[in-house]
Amino acid sequence: MELRLVTAGESHGPALVAIVTGLPAGLVLERAAIDDDLRRRREGYGRSPRQKLEADEVEVLAGLRHGSTLGTPLALVIRNRDHENWAWGMSPWPPEGEPSGKGTSPVTLPRPGHADLAGALKYGHDDVRNALERASARQTAAHVAGGAVAKALLREIGVSVVGAPSEVGGETGDEGMRRATDDARKDRDTLGGVVEVTASGVPPGLGSYAEKADRLDARLASALMGIQAVKGVEIGDGFALSRLRGSQAHDEIEPGVRRETNRAGGIEGGVSNGEPIVVRAAMKPLPTLMRPLRSVDLATGEAGTALVERSDVQAVEALAVVAEAAVAWELARASREKFGGDALEDFVAARGAYVDRIDRSR
Ligand SMILES: Cc1cc2nc3c(=O)[nH]c(=O)nc-3n(C[C@H](O)[C@H](O)[C@H](O)COP(=O)(O)O)c2cc1C
Repeated sequence: MELRLVTAGESHGPALVAIVTGLPAGLVLERAAIDDDLRRRREGYGRSPRQKLEADEVEVLAGLRHGSTLGTPLALVIRNRDHENWAWGMSPWPPEGEPSGKGTSPVTLPRPGHADLAGALKYGHDDVRNALERASARQTAAHVAGGAVAKALLREIGVSVVGAPSEVGGETGDEGMRRATDDARKDRDTLGGVVEVTASGVPPGLGSYAEKADRLDARLASALMGIQAVKGVEIGDGFALSRLRGSQAHDEIEPGVRRETNRAGGIEGGVSNGEPIVVRAAMKPLPTLMRPLRSVDLATGEAGTALVERSDVQAVEALAVVAEAAVAWELARASREKFGGDALEDFVAARGAYVDRIDRSR
């Protein structure tokens, strides 16, 4: 049973859409849990004040009855509340009446570090907005909604997934991260950072070494690299392991088949080994700068400075929520492959029988 997620939606278009297929029937979803993750994505130190004002709320159009999944495609919608200010500029159909609101004049000054230039060249857009509207991280809201559904499914088999920021602009600790953010804000600059996601209760045996595309570490790396601005991923101690000797790097196996260390981050041979899964993602500094970098006007070929649009100083806390959703999604997908079942009960029972078999062999 393959779990799949397809999303659509522009940042200032009418709505974001997520369609989830491959869920078992009988999974209870809570609207508040999905909305809570959407709220967590919007909040966080360093985000622009407007992000915090406009709450995102999920609507369900299909696949759910009285709070329980039907085993049919689940269709989720998140309206873009700001669309009313862009109704002319982002109208899906040729707009009627005089231009009004935002997005009425073309953007021709691409931002270094954003998708503006590459997107405009690739798709042949004269207005860079046609690229940036989808490339921007607004679409991560749809993935966070999908991740909240994945977390509900994982909870049924005792798996929990939590993401948190661990560095902002090279600083650690709440105070250091806030100070770095305040300093960058004063300088009208932006920062990146690092987030860590931990998944507990993951049974051994998710993923496989059979083919490289099956490896759980490869799948998690791809899921995290798929998030805007993520430029590095580590599984377990990752890059630090490369500087150790083998005798220091590996997690010895104790009687009872237990480990006292988890430098591998819960994955060996591309397969979960029963220890918590620990992954980190590194985010580059946000590309929209209030003191913009040099750019070129694509309409005239003349030198200029890049587009300035509403933007955050840093979005590392938001990334932690998005990364949590990405890891949850990938683990839910691997769990559906392993345990199958059309009814939730079948899925849970298959996991129970499998874990019993493993426990007997230890
Ligand atoms: C949660 C989140 C929020 C983001 N917010 C902003 C932002 O406010 N301004 C900005 O310029 N980039 C922001 N980004 C980063 C851009 O979306 C990203 O750099 C851009 O799409 C280009 O993709 P790339 O960095 O992967 O090359 C954000 C990314 C994430 C994950």
